[in-house]
Amino acid sequence: MSAFAQSVAETRGAGAPARDAADFGVYVHWPFCLSKCPYCDFNSHVRQHFEERRFCAALAAELEHYAAQTGTRVVTSLFFGGGTPSLMAPESVAAIIARVRALWPTAADLEITLEANPTSVEAGRFAGYSAAGVNRVSLGVQALDDASLAFLGRRHSAAEALAAIELATRHFPRTSFDLIYARPGQTLAAWRKELAAALAHARGHLSLYQLTIEPATAFAEAYARGDLILPEEGTSAALYEATQEMLEAAGLPAYEISNHAAAGEESRHNLTYWRYGDYVGVGPGAHGRLTIAGEKRATRQHRAPEAWLERVERSGHATRQQLALSPEECREEMLMMGLRLAEGVDRERFLHTCGMALETALEGERLARLVDGGFLVLDARGLRATAAGRQRLNAVLAALLG
Ligand SMILES: C[S@@+](CC[C@H](N)C(=O)[O-])C[C@H]1O[C@@H](n2cnc3c(N)ncnc32)[C@H](O)[C@@H]1O
Ligand code: SF4
Repeated sequence: MSAFAQSVAETRGAGAPARDAADFGVYVHWPFCLSKCPYCDFNSHVRQHFEERRFCAALAAELEHYAAQTGTRVVTSLFFGGGTPSLMAPESVAAIIARVRALWPTAADLEITLEANPTSVEAGRFAGYSAAGVNRVSLGVQALDDASLAFLGRRHSAAEALAAIELATRHFPRTSFDLIYARPGQTLAAWRKELAAALAHARGHLSLYQLTIEPATAFAEAYARGDLILPEEGTSAALYEATQEMLEAAGLPAYEISNHAAAGEESRHNLTYWRYGDYVGVGPGAHGRLTIAGEKRATRQHRAPEAWLERVERSGHATRQQLALSPEECREEMLMMGLRLAEGVDRERFLHTCGMALETALEGERLARLVDGGFLVLDARGLRATAAGRQRLNAVLAALLG
């Protein structure tokens, strides 16, 4: 899997707002967590001690490094992801926001999202984040019953999760939360009930991920031993279909495979990824995509937090890789990302970004088979996957791209 395919997998995830290709995001990775969840393969680490001020100074240095390359582009979104960015002191978050604002012009409606864990300690920091300028919080709720939360290795109870959602909605104009479904033994009836409870607390956006077994996680070991059994394919499909139906009925249709929102409530930052726009990525293991001197470049920072810190302190940045993508690589990445979206890949944007028309970029016979099979639609707007296509997107991409 290419580095980018990896980053696509890490983002996991109709009718989204028509913002243009000029959207430009900044991603800040905070790599620390209180404990490692058994399903998680994100670049997250448990440390007894680390110097927050040094890490923040290094994040600021990497921002400066990339600002020097991206000139005067207007930042439309800033995203603190992790790891657990809600372990950062509000003052640290405020300092990073101030640095971004000093280095780039920012949109009047700049979206500033912070990923948070719903433990009571961290929820207590919400007032500070709000004062710092955070205007959107994404909470890692994961499940709404205590047994499932314990199975997922979470440190919070369902009651604490609900309290955190309520608190977040008091402090931030926009709140989303994540749930993981298709858990071992989960029935359709149980998931419907959990989703109904989630919808009663949702405020315009929900991320609903099917549990995946990622390599080198505790769940991967349990799965290999036969101690963890995922629902049958038919059950998973039924859970997915029930999710689409219930969320659509509630006015939060899927705008991306795992992301649901009321109109206008989509994550602008993640839309920039999926529309294959440009974004700076700073912090350990962060990825970026930048158009510089007319070519699309993929950037990747060193992954291990201490090695990253040491390099930034020595050289001003810890870029491990910055490489120009070929038109062929751009085509593949843009299709992989864009077909996750209900709106699909925009024809004009594809031409502008990849330098070729959609028809030229696609192999006719492969495309025709997928269109005839009811998995893809190609029209004046562009190329998009149907609901059936999105449900089995990996297979569709394999059939399309070879
Ligand atoms: C960077 S992580 C979470 C941020 C935050 N540290 C937290 O745990 O609340 C983003 C989301 O990806 C989802 N996720 C991570 N690993 C997953 C897996 N193996 N299967 C399904 N969803 C997963 C979880 O819902 C998680 O909240
Ligand atoms: S799911 Fe979140 S809290 Fe758990 S290890 Fe991954 S990043 Fe950390």
